[in-house]
Amino acid sequence: NKPIYILGIESSCDDTSAAVICNGKILSNVVANQEIHAKYGGVVPELASRAHQQNIVPVIQQAIQQANIDKKDLNAIAFTRGPGLMGSLLVGTSFAKSLSLALNIPLIAVNHMQGHVLAHFIEEENQQKPPFPFLCLTISGGHTQIVKINNYFEMEVIGETIDDAVGEAFDKSAKILGLPYPGGPLIDKYAKLGNSKAFKFTKPKVDELNFSFSGLKTGILYFIQKKTKENPTFIDENLNDICASIQHTIVEILFDKLKNAVKQTGIKHIAIAGGVSANSEIRKVLKATENKFGWTTYIPKFEYTTDNAAMIAIVGYLKYLDGSFLEEPTSATARLKV
Ligand code: KG4
Ligand code: ZN
Repeated sequence: NKPIYILGIESSCDDTSAAVICNGKILSNVVANQEIHAKYGGVVPELASRAHQQNIVPVIQQAIQQANIDKKDLNAIAFTRGPGLMGSLLVGTSFAKSLSLALNIPLIAVNHMQGHVLAHFIEEENQQKPPFPFLCLTISGGHTQIVKINNYFEMEVIGETIDDAVGEAFDKSAKILGLPYPGGPLIDKYAKLGNSKAFKFTKPKVDELNFSFSGLKTGILYFIQKKTKENPTFIDENLNDICASIQHTIVEILFDKLKNAVKQTGIKHIAIAGGVSANSEIRKVLKATENKFGWTTYIPKFEYTTDNAAMIAIVGYLKYLDGSFLEEPTSATARLKV
């Protein structure tokens, strides 16, 4: 049982992150958020690449330091190959390649979405790991999928969004309400104080296990425009109720499909992953299915929900054990399927 140290590097969107994992246990997980995007109401790709360029060296240094190891102890480097923003991915990819060359250790390419899912396999106290096969509702700023996980490396997307991701639905709704980016956590916060039945929004009709969120966003926009015309302080007076109602609608859309997925597959081990799985209502409703429907649920630790390198490092470790190293030169890929 000799220790295997893997450095994980994540730079697919607007967070620069590095983590060190030793035999499945996280030793460090450093995340530098980019505040700059709040000003623009969304991630500006060009600014994200520049910020990664500035952050990557200090973030990696800090991760190695906090892990209390020497960089010469590292056995391999795992990096996010995609999906994500091309300019952002290139910073992490190039850095990982150079460092592997300098340290003469192998490289492991990781799919970001696989990282979100496999974060459930990080060794943590009091954290149950899901058995195979299980279903994972993977919900982030860029993705909304129901994935059937057959084993670490075999994942089948059985449902996904046909337009916006659920994180976008949160963020765009928040923007309509005048809240800063990313608005998802703020909707969550205000919703806690509001009445989720105060306003009703139409849920989309989408085939099979797929999702759609663009209609909801438009519905919310028209609703707010109409209401503020009648009463210019409508948002201020009703912010908590509006947020609670929006969040309630989104959660219903997600769980309607998840219930169908359970019916269709007969699988009752259900995990959530991705930035939106930090949402308190989603966590609460998922937990409640244990008594209600007999599901066994798996909810990741808060710090492994939004983008982080710990999830890249765990995939790196699992691939290391599997001997899946990057043999030939590979470039970053903006669009990459799980
Ligand atoms: O996984 P992630 O960090 O980045 C992507 O890969 O996209 O997800 C970011 C998304 C954003 O849309 C953010 O608003 C949303 O996750 N988010 C939340 C919450 N925390 C983060 N949405 C709703 N409630 C939250 N508590
Ligand atoms: Zn993500």
